[in-house]
Amino acid sequence: MRTLVLIKPDGVQRAKIGEIVKRFEDKGLKVVAMKLMMVSKEQAERHYAVHKGKPFYNSLIDYITSGPVVAMILEGKEAIEVTRKLVGATNGAKAEPGTIRGDFSLSIDFNLVHASDSENSASYEIPIFFNEKEIIEYKRVDENWL
Ligand code: CMP
Repeated sequence: MRTLVLIKPDGVQRAKIGEIVKRFEDKGLKVVAMKLMMVSKEQAERHYAVHKGKPFYNSLIDYITSGPVVAMILEGKEAIEVTRKLVGATNGAKAEPGTIRGDFSLSIDFNLVHASDSENSASYEIPIFFNEKEIIEYKRVDENWL
């Protein structure tokens, strides 16, 4: 199973790329694609299409296109649910300590990370950021031990 994760502009600006990736790797999730990129307006609008019309939509699009993000695809058993647990609740102020948002965010807007919330979302979101050639299939040496 695969999921899409974005380290949003606040995560990059606050130099949390390493810390965030470390948590996913430590858990046993495998990074199968990764890049630092600027999200285009068109990509942002596709990615956040479900939020179109909501009061926070315009600022969300402005924000996600405002600076570099790290996009990645994580693979592993129950990758979607496991990643969402590691990320924590949407509002950083309410997210449990021990989660990424719970440890580093006080905000619903600046919540460091986006992670797909279902298999449908993952299969919709992944092609917005990656083509097939950018996804690398390989075996991690510790895979049999996870
Ligand atoms: P993300 O997982 O990237 O998906 C949509 C984002 O919208 C969410 O994280 C929040 O950062 C942002 N957002 C702002 N206000 C709200 C809200 N009221 N409910 C949900 N998401 C919100």
